[in-house]
Amino acid sequence: MTKKTIKKAVIPVAGLGTRFLPATKAIPKEMLTIVDRPTIQYIVEEVVASGIEEVILITSAGKSAIENHFDYDFQLDTVLKEKNKTVLRDELANISNLIDIVSVRQKQPLGLGHAIWMARNVIGDEPFLVLLGDDLVRSPVPCCKQMIDLYNRVGESIVAIQRVPLSQTFQYGIVEGEETEHERTFKVRRMVEKPAPGTSDSDMAIIGRYLLMPEIFELLAKTTPGHGGEIQLTDALQALSNRRGMYAYEFIGRRYDAGDKLGYLKAIVDFALEHPDLGTAFSDHLNKKLSGNG
Ligand code: UTP
Repeated sequence: MTKKTIKKAVIPVAGLGTRFLPATKAIPKEMLTIVDRPTIQYIVEEVVASGIEEVILITSAGKSAIENHFDYDFQLDTVLKEKNKTVLRDELANISNLIDIVSVRQKQPLGLGHAIWMARNVIGDEPFLVLLGDDLVRSPVPCCKQMIDLYNRVGESIVAIQRVPLSQTFQYGIVEGEETEHERTFKVRRMVEKPAPGTSDSDMAIIGRYLLMPEIFELLAKTTPGHGGEIQLTDALQALSNRRGMYAYEFIGRRYDAGDKLGYLKAIVDFALEHPDLGTAFSDHLNKKLSGNG
């Protein structure tokens, strides 16, 4: 059977961002800056670098700054042109030309599963990617590209995973499964959302990257509210896994939960240290600080 090409990526950004209040009262958490660009820009750049043609943003009231960030700003462009700021103009033009973006409103934050379900009409009958709007992955080959390469071999849904200490598994969706002949790839047997301590001996935690078959929409429609009264994606993923099979892929790279204060700070430090203009000066500053001379 020929596999359908992955052309679309869904990025849900409709959550309330309560972990980051008060910073996120008026500013979407996806617009918080990591060194010199908002989190969401890194995510859209990963999508583009993975060969995707269209992004579907699941948004909510108060998130228009995200759409504006990827739009063309005529007034700003005119001012920059008058001031001969060519490099800046080009950089802004590159952002607005990155990729086609379609927005769908999620009217109430009814959970990640519900947010993805909102994309059903735009996706239609094709497999697609999902990237969480606050999950950053730094890797030589974009995480989504790694997943698409695996999909081209296995032809089924894939969840990206990372290993976490067993003491932290209660904070994640956890996958249990068996190794396959494909490197870093496991066949999913069971998925459990935030397992109570001691109820799962797996350390494979689902992160914010999924490659899903379109049947997920039908299964999401049947999913009743679970943990926290929200429509959980994990329940529908388990149903999809039972029906067609699913793989868990231990991606190569480093993931940052930029929707969490500590994860956000780690991302800033690592991205700043690797920044071509700032890296050396920032590293000197950190070294002085850590040795008590800063
Ligand atoms: P999170 O639980 O990390 O986001 O959801 P949140 O609800 O915004 O954050 P906290 O926990 O209150 O701090 C993961 C992703 O799913 C989106 C979020 O925007 C985030 O990118 N999401 C979540 C939705 O789009 N809709 C929802 O109803 C819930």
